[in-house]
Formats: sequence, structure tokens, C-alpha cells
Amino acid sequence: MKTVTLHDKTFRLLLRAADIDRAIAGMAERMNRELRDARPLFLVILNGAFMFASDLIKQITVPGTQISFVKVASYRSTRSSGEVRELIGLNEDLAGRTVVILEDIIDTGRSMAHLLDHLRGKHPDRLLIATLFHKPAAAEYPVPVDYCGFPLGNDFIVGRGLDYDGLGRNLPDLYVLNPTV
Ligand code: IMP
Ligand code: MG
Repeated sequence: MKTVTLHDKTFRLLLRAADIDRAIAGMAERMNRELRDARPLFLVILNGAFMFASDLIKQITVPGTQISFVKVASYRSTRSSGEVRELIGLNEDLAGRTVVILEDIIDTGRSMAHLLDHLRGKHPDRLLIATLFHKPAAAEYPVPVDYCGFPLGNDFIVGRGLDYDGLGRNLPDLYVLNPTV
């Protein structure tokens, strides 16, 4: 059994790189077909989606394709009780565009729901969501996923851009912690 130890925890192999590559190729193929005339703007959500985005975007052949990299910074405001989220690095005008959000994983959907709220305010023509991994059973916020690589269970995963406390992002395979199934 292939395992990897990061910090204090041991993870076991869940998906091989070749299978993930195949799923990404399938997503790219669908996008090339469905977004052929859309001049899409791909919005890469850093840090986690960097590897997925790199693998996917090489296979996108749609004319007018653009890529932008953004980061969601969240911090607790000292003046209100709520959490403040700020989108850093978005310089493009989204008005009238087809925007494809590239995310590594959707878990509860909280991050994506906030991001959607924010981006809708910039009046894109269409907002599409592409995520490499999705935990549908963990959903607490409604998020319309347009392109998904793999639906997964609720177990914590690492690799392929996803980290456990800063480690594991570089792993080409996907690993899981204490699988319950
Ligand atoms: P959310 O619950 O959908 O808002 O997920 C928020 C963020 O938590 C994701 O963008 C990931 O960065 C992180 N995350 C969720 N599940 C996992 C996991 O299984 N492994 C590593 N990071 C995760
Ligand atoms: Mg993330």
C-alpha cells in the first residue's frame, strides 16, 4: 500500500496521477467544445488550483482564451464580528465575459459561494465553475458545479495542489487520510 507521511499524519494512495490526468483531459475536451465561441477568461484560485490549472489550460484550444490568477484573503475584522474576504489580483474587467473559475476542491461550498457573490457583482455574462475535486456530501452552501473531475467522500485529501498544513501540494497522486469507506 503506497502511503505518504506529512507532519504527524499518514495518508494512503487514493487516485493515481494518470487517472487524474485522464479526467482533466476529459474536462478540457468538453470545454473546447462547449466554450468554442466564448473567448473564456479562466480565473485560477490560488494556491490550491495552480497545478490543476496548469494541467488543464495546456489543453485548451479555444481562441481568445485568457487566464488570470486570484487569491482570496480572509481575515477577522477588528470592527465587526464577521469574517472579511478580499479578492486579490483581479485586474480584468469581467463585464460581459464568460468566466470559468478553476478551483482545486469544493468542500462545504462556503469559499465558492462567497466568491460567486463577489464575482456576480462584476456583471460577467456567464460564471462557470470547474473544480478538480468535489465533496458533494459535505455541501452546506449551494454551488452550481459545471465541470468536475472527481466526486469524493468527505475524507481529507492531499496532493495534486492540495496541502495538509503546507505540505503535500507537490504530490502528483492524490492521498487520503483515514478513509471511512
Ligand atoms: P469549502 O469548505 O468548500 O469552503 O473549502 C474551503 C477550502 O478548504 C478549499 O478551497 C481547500 O483549500 C480546503 N479544503 C477542503 N477540503 C480539503 C481537503 O480534503 N484537503 C485539503 N484542503 C481542503
Ligand atoms: Mg483552495
